[in-house]
Amino acid sequence: MTPIHLDHAATTPLAPHVLDAMLPYLTTTQGNPSSVHGSGRAARAAVDDARDRIAGVLGCAQREIVFTGSGTEADNLAIRGVLERWGADRGRHLVVSAVEHDAILETAHHLEAAGVAMLTIAGCDRECRVTPESVAAAVTPDTVLVSVMFVNNETGAVQDVAGIAEAVHRRNPRTLVHTDAVQAFGRIPVDPVALGVDLLSLSAHKIYGPKGAGALWVRHGVALAAQSTGGGQERNRRSATENVAGIVGFGAAAELAERVRVAETRRQASLSRRLVDAVLAQVPDAIETAAGAVKAAGFATFALPGVRSDVLLAALDMDGVEASAGSACGSGAPLPSHVLRAMGYADDLAAGALRCTTGRSTSAEDVDTAASVIATAVAGIRVGAAAGSAAAGR
Ligand SMILES: Cc1ncc(COP(=O)(O)O)c(C=O)c1O
Repeated sequence: MTPIHLDHAATTPLAPHVLDAMLPYLTTTQGNPSSVHGSGRAARAAVDDARDRIAGVLGCAQREIVFTGSGTEADNLAIRGVLERWGADRGRHLVVSAVEHDAILETAHHLEAAGVAMLTIAGCDRECRVTPESVAAAVTPDTVLVSVMFVNNETGAVQDVAGIAEAVHRRNPRTLVHTDAVQAFGRIPVDPVALGVDLLSLSAHKIYGPKGAGALWVRHGVALAAQSTGGGQERNRRSATENVAGIVGFGAAAELAERVRVAETRRQASLSRRLVDAVLAQVPDAIETAAGAVKAAGFATFALPGVRSDVLLAALDMDGVEASAGSACGSGAPLPSHVLRAMGYADDLAAGALRCTTGRSTSAEDVDTAASVIATAVAGIRVGAAAGSAAAGR
């Protein structure tokens, strides 16, 4: 039986149209974009064309897009690149929110530990909202960069990035603002100029494109230090031979995502609402996390009292439902969610996070089935835990 996949925030399958666009660059047209001969020029044209497509979707200049190997790398380039380029002139103070993806949080902690950055973590409220006021209050004359994500990957909460950028720039016009828009792209309009940010990260595999392709949008005039040096590709901002097929796939996926965005988000918003309502009806003490925030379509997220995420996910997997606790954590270690902790949840609840994220293939029947599988699994785990503690007490 094909599992019901409700983990589209972790990754999405390659869209057939995207694969078709990529195939020539994995088979017949395999030049290096830096070569001057015909094969090289064909590869260069394909990279330029993909850059144009993504620039068209973002409404920006194509020279502002730096292709990277992932969203993680885009985040690293933004943070490390700005601190290295501007830290000595503008100050080493870095502000990030407590609910950032580890690509930002871990990087910020590394830079702090290395003495490169002075770090302030801006908190959020119980609904995962990071307010412009709280971020601006953390900004000082030495703040070189602020980074607050657009859509939270664990709860789907949409941050007021435009308000944050405005408040930060009002407080210190020299502070640069970065947003990680990896989960936002394809779900809500992403217009970096309208947002008023200086840098913005994207990843192809979250929008039905290939893994291993990402981009950092860098506002024209914003300089940053390359974190990979060598042949000077990407206007000296990211040296490496371009992943031509991946970049072509990214361009095709971005256009497709924008084309279907309005209809798909409407459909998926109703599916995720349906799933939330069904789970809350069948597991009455389940808490919908970030329920008070504006949430991106497709996120149904919960904290489940008395249930450990890793145990629940294994049970769901056995019963044909693929979900997640929050982020797709590389180590696999069952740590309480740092996002739920930042939202003020105690450790036992933060250890019971469940994230279901719908996708283009998800149906109403899928979410109805998933809700009853979740309810049955939660009930089973609780019965098992109760029996275990009764046996221990005997
Ligand atoms: C908000 C956010 N930022 C960054 C990343 C990392 O992107 P990538 O998987 O392309 O490295 C992810 C992936 O889960 C994410 O959700």
